Amino acid sequence: MIAELSLLFDSGYPLLYLLTYEEERALRLIRTAAKDRALSTWSRTGGGANKPGADLPALLESLKRAGRGVTVLVDAHPFLADGGVVRKLRELSPVLSRAGHTLIFLSPVLVLPPELEKDVTIVDVPLPDRQAVDELFRAVCAEEQVVFPEDFVDAVVLAARGLTENEARRVFTKALRKGGGFKLSDISLILEEKKQILRKSEVLEFIELSESLSTVGGLEEVKRWLKQRRRAFGEEAARYGLPPPKGLLLIGVQGCGKSLTAKAVAGSWHLPLLRLDLGAVFGMASPETSLRRAILVAESLSPVVLWVDEIEKGFAQASSSAGENVSRVFGGFITWLQEKKVPVFVVATANEVENLPPELLRKGRFDETFFVDLPDAHERKAILHIHIKRRGRDPKAFDLDALARQTEHFSGAELEQGVVAGMYRAFSEGRELSTRDIQKELDEIVPLFATYEEKIKALREWSKNRARRASLDQSLVDLFEEE
Ligand SMILES: Nc1ncnc2c1ncn2[C@@H]1O[C@H](COP(=O)(O)OP(=O)(O)OP(=O)(O)O)[C@@H](O)[C@H]1O
Ligand SMILES: [Mg+2]
Repeated sequence: MIAELSLLFDSGYPLLYLLTYEEERALRLIRTAAKDRALSTWSRTGGGANKPGADLPALLESLKRAGRGVTVLVDAHPFLADGGVVRKLRELSPVLSRAGHTLIFLSPVLVLPPELEKDVTIVDVPLPDRQAVDELFRAVCAEEQVVFPEDFVDAVVLAARGLTENEARRVFTKALRKGGGFKLSDISLILEEKKQILRKSEVLEFIELSESLSTVGGLEEVKRWLKQRRRAFGEEAARYGLPPPKGLLLIGVQGCGKSLTAKAVAGSWHLPLLRLDLGAVFGMASPETSLRRAILVAESLSPVVLWVDEIEKGFAQASSSAGENVSRVFGGFITWLQEKKVPVFVVATANEVENLPPELLRKGRFDETFFVDLPDAHERKAILHIHIKRRGRDPKAFDLDALARQTEHFSGAELEQGVVAGMYRAFSEGRELSTRDIQKELDEIVPLFATYEEKIKALREWSKNRARRASLDQSLVDLFEEE
């Protein structure tokens, strides 16, 4: 971050926008990056450091004669709605560039009028890195006079990544003040606090892990693909020269395990799972700010799985709300997908392809796009097996072949529904669950396919040249087995 800022100063970038809640920390970073340059700060209440009380237009006027240096405007974003200020900034831009002076907007929200888009460079302030969190924890231990728990430090740092400096400081202080030194159990306290904080973000959610790939029935091709990449986030893979996998797009029929797979990836890779709600992003006052912040949090928690469920809905909502920012937000997201260097594995799911922006499907965004179809007979057997076992019954006691035969065109969700309903039936009649109970209940279910046959077939057709099949082609497997 410091190196990036220095470079921007050196290269004569006239207008920067630093997007962050962490004002103090950002000012410290700017100070370090500015080195010997003259640095002044302005805020609405404090006036200019050099010209106390000066109003913003006057300050901008005076900058026309500025020499080499850096001026920081703290929370000046409301002024960017003023056409006069915008015009002044545009005139100022080449002047500053020649003088080697950089003007920085420092603010927690991004307000960027289209006229300034080309002149202003947005710089993200990453959340504190490993080392910074480590140092902060040491400092808080010293302040609180608690013996520094050398053995736990890695776990503590990991637990606190994703928090801002102030949040981490508060969490550490709270954990240390409750007396009795620092215990291992305090780490879960930190994690709990982090969840609370993320919860407030409204667009990101921490998901508790309960699934693994073994709870996904069928979809053997996706599972094989994922298994191949299981160790791809480690040091060893990096030494081998592998880039971290970018992510996966799962397109397909409702209730066939897309969301389940997303959760299972994180579970079986032992990575934290964050869910990004794109719909909520576009519902926020500043979608761009929310999305950028969410991405920073995800990056600071890396390696992590970022799950974007029903990605097409987010973008559909975006285009209907018709904000002028929309294409910029969308473009920003796509660019991030393509260029991210940190191990954030994105699993996106979609079931409506009409709303899927074609840019999302272009190579380089995701490592692979899979089409998740209704399960074939083998897969239905596997799914029934999973759900019967999950509910404490021995699958061997059931005629899974008969159930699979009976349920052509059923989705995984519908099969699960049959098992559960069968249990209600048996329970109400005071019996143990039998194949018959499940059979009867499955008979009652009208699969989605009956209503949406055309739609599902169209989806299948669409995916033919655009996505890889998530399932093994069982007819081929059978052919080989017969030989
Ligand atoms: N392949 C499967 N293996 C095991 N269980 C499955 C499978 N597919 C679906 N299920 C069961 O059905 C539930 C719903 O599936 P899931 O939410 O993953 O569907 P989806 O593909 O994301 O559907 P939608 O498009 O409606 O979001 C799962 O939680 C799981 O219990
Ligand atoms: Mg889903």
